This record gives sequence, structure tokens and C-alpha cells, in this order.
Amino acid sequence: MRNVLKFMISAFAPLVAVGVSVAPNGPPAWAYGTSTSEAASPGDHSATASSAEVRAGQKPQAAPDNGLKHLPGSNFEFTLAQISNSFGPADWYPGDHPQMPPIVAHGRRPDVLACSFCHYPNGKGRPENAGIAGFPAAYFIQQMNDFKNGNRKSAEPRKYNTNVMIHIAKGMTDDEINEAAEYFAKMPWTPWIKVVETDTVPKTRLSVGMFLPLEGSGKEPLGERIIETPTNAEATEALRDPRSGFIAYAPFGSIEKGEVLVTTGAGKTTPCGVCHGTDLKGLGPVPGIAGRSPSYLVRQMYDMQQDARHGMWSELMKPVVSKLSEEDMLDIAAYTSSRTP
Ligand code: HEC
Ligand code: HEC
Repeated sequence: MRNVLKFMISAFAPLVAVGVSVAPNGPPAWAYGTSTSEAASPGDHSATASSAEVRAGQKPQAAPDNGLKHLPGSNFEFTLAQISNSFGPADWYPGDHPQMPPIVAHGRRPDVLACSFCHYPNGKGRPENAGIAGFPAAYFIQQMNDFKNGNRKSAEPRKYNTNVMIHIAKGMTDDEINEAAEYFAKMPWTPWIKVVETDTVPKTRLSVGMFLPLEGSGKEPLGERIIETPTNAEATEALRDPRSGFIAYAPFGSIEKGEVLVTTGAGKTTPCGVCHGTDLKGLGPVPGIAGRSPSYLVRQMYDMQQDARHGMWSELMKPVVSKLSEEDMLDIAAYTSSRTP
């Protein structure tokens, strides 16, 4: 494994000169799900699992809704409290995935929240966290150790849920990490996000890091952003439906511009296929990036450019991202996400 990566470093690193950081405007708020008006507060650096439970859960409600909820095609019914139980959330469709190891289904109190709580039992995840199904187990394990050892953080300190992820990884044993990695590696990554080019988008509000359409508020110009939002807001936000995916609105022309960067490098970067596979579905230990969340992909490119993500393997990505502008990252993500995984 290490040898493969060493080979890649020696073979490809010289192709691109290391430049200076070229995204001068700070972390793109549309990718990080941060409000542009909110000021960074030092308290956000130290999110703990207990604050995460509150913040990653449902919005406080006027009167508790104890009614049983349903989803089409599921034989189960759950209350909202069961759906958002961070140590054992609802598993609507047990037939959609292999049997979950306890660490995935329930986590381990007090620090390790259930993986299925944020990433769903099928590993599809949501734009504010990550899709984690279908990765090579070796890559998965490397990430958990990078989180653990301080080599992977968010470039945006207000992205509290990445801090929660770090806290979780720090609390896990090697056996638990291996079990989780093997479980999620068993499932292939399948289409989950539809990329649509447009110049206007529904107005949205931020709900714990995810953009949700504002009911009845009309549209606004998209500008230079990708806005990723649930296909069905109710199913995603309240019910955590692991079969209900996402739409990513991207600017007109972005997919085509991204294709040029991804396939040729356009003098700014290395063609991604040499390491991620020509179809971008992954190669050996290198993760697949086709059909994954565009907000997530942009965060990773930006995090690597800012050196917030600098694990041993991420070093391979440094020359790839060093000269990319925010617009390049957007175009690359629009194209990459639009590829069938
Ligand atoms: C509170 C929500 C939450 C929970 C619970 C959670 N994660 Fe995460 N996970 C995240 C976030 C947020 C990220 C990183 C997103 C970012 O920085 O852009 C992440 C990223 C990851 C990644 C990196 C994916 C990649 O493509 O590199 C892995 C692997 C992962 N999580 C595994 C796990 C495992 C295993 C568990 C259960 C033990 C777990 N997560 C529980 C929120 C969560
Ligand atoms: C020289 C080999 C190489 C090239 C070329 C390369 N990558 Fe990577 N990429 C990697 C490796 C290795 C990783 C895993 C990094 C780690 O473990 O942190 C990675 C990780 C990533 C990730 C994070 C994936 C995740 O799930 O978190 C993204 C996004 C990414 N690459 C995008 C790209 C894009 C876009 C291109 C082309 C413009 C590209 N890469 C070109 C080797 C490469």
C-alpha cells in the first residue's frame, strides 16, 4: 500500500509545481454551510459529543411531537425522538444494508455517537457530513487515524460537526475503526445527488449546516455557488430518510469547465484520473470521488489547500489543489459529482 503511494508521489508530484494558496476569500460559506453573517467564536472549536447531540439533533419544538412517523416501503414506525437518537437512530430499511456492527448502529457512550446517526445506516450521509459507503477499507482507516492524530481538521473552525467527528475518532479503538471500515466498504457508492445547472435557486435557510428550501419564498440568483439541498426536505430533515437524496444546483457551464480541469489539468492541476481511476471511481487505496457530494468535495479540496487536512496520503493532493481558485474547485465538484459512480 505504502509502496503504491510512494510510487504515485514520485511519478506524479513533479507534474505540478507547488504554488501559493489561491483562494483568498476564506472558506466558501456555501460549501461549509456557514452563515456569511455569523462571526467565528472560539467556543466553536471545542464541540463535544454532548453539545453535538443537541446541535446535530432536531430543532427545539414548541410541543413535543410523540406521534409515530412512517416512510413508504418501510415496515417500521418511529417517533421523532427515536429517529434522532444519536446512540441508536431509526433504521428504516434494514434490508438495504448488511447487519450493522454495534459501533455503527449504537456507537459507544459517552463519546462515540453512532455512525448511522449522521452518515445513515447505508453510509449515504448528507452534504454537511460525508458519504462514507464504498471506500476502500484502507482509505477509511487512514482517515479515522488522521482525525485521531490531528492531521485532519476543517479549515473552517465554525464547522462544529467536523470537530465532533474528530472527538468520535479519538474515542474509538482500533477494532472499532476496523469494524466500521469493513462494514461501510461492503456497500458500493450509488447515485445519491443530482447535479442541475441553473441560474436561480429556491431561497434557502441553514439548518445545522444543511441548506433547506424556505417554503413559499421564491427564488434568488445562484451566483458562483453550488447549493445542495434535499430532494424532499421533510423526509431528510425530520425523518432522516436514507433513501431520499439531494439536488445540487450548479451554475450554467460549470460541469463543462470542470470536465476540462479534471480530464486535462488545464495547466493548473493534474488530471484526477491518474490516481482516482479514469472513471473517478477509485483506484487501489485512492478513494472514489464520482457522484459524491459537491459541497463535501469542495471542502476537502479547500481543507487540503489550507493544510488543515494533511495526513500522509493527503500530501499527494497538495500539488493537485495548490493552484486552484474557488471557482475551479466549484467547477471540478460540479463535474465530479455529476459522474455516475
Ligand atoms: C455528528 C455527526 C457524525 C457522526 C455521529 C459520525 N460522523 Fe463521520 N463525519 C462527520 C463529519 C462532519 C465529517 C467530515 C465532513 C467535513 O469535514 O467536510 C465526517 C467524516 C467522516 C469520514 C471521512 C470520509 C471521507 O470521505 O474521507 C469517515 C471515514 C467517517 N466520518 C467515519 C465515521 C464513523 C466510523 C463514525 C461512527 C463511529 C462516524 N463517522 C460518526 C460527522 C459524523
Ligand atoms: C497523485 C495522485 C492524485 C491525483 C493526481 C489526484 N488525487 Fe485526489 N486524492 C489522492 C489521494 C491519495 C487521496 C486520499 C488523501 C487522504 O488520504 O487524505 C485523495 C483524496 C481526494 C479527495 C478527498 C476524498 C474524500 O472522500 O475525502 C478529493 C475530493 C480529491 N482527492 C479530489 C481530486 C481531484 C478533483 C483531482 C484532480 C483535479 C485529484 N483528486 C487528483 C490522490 C490524488
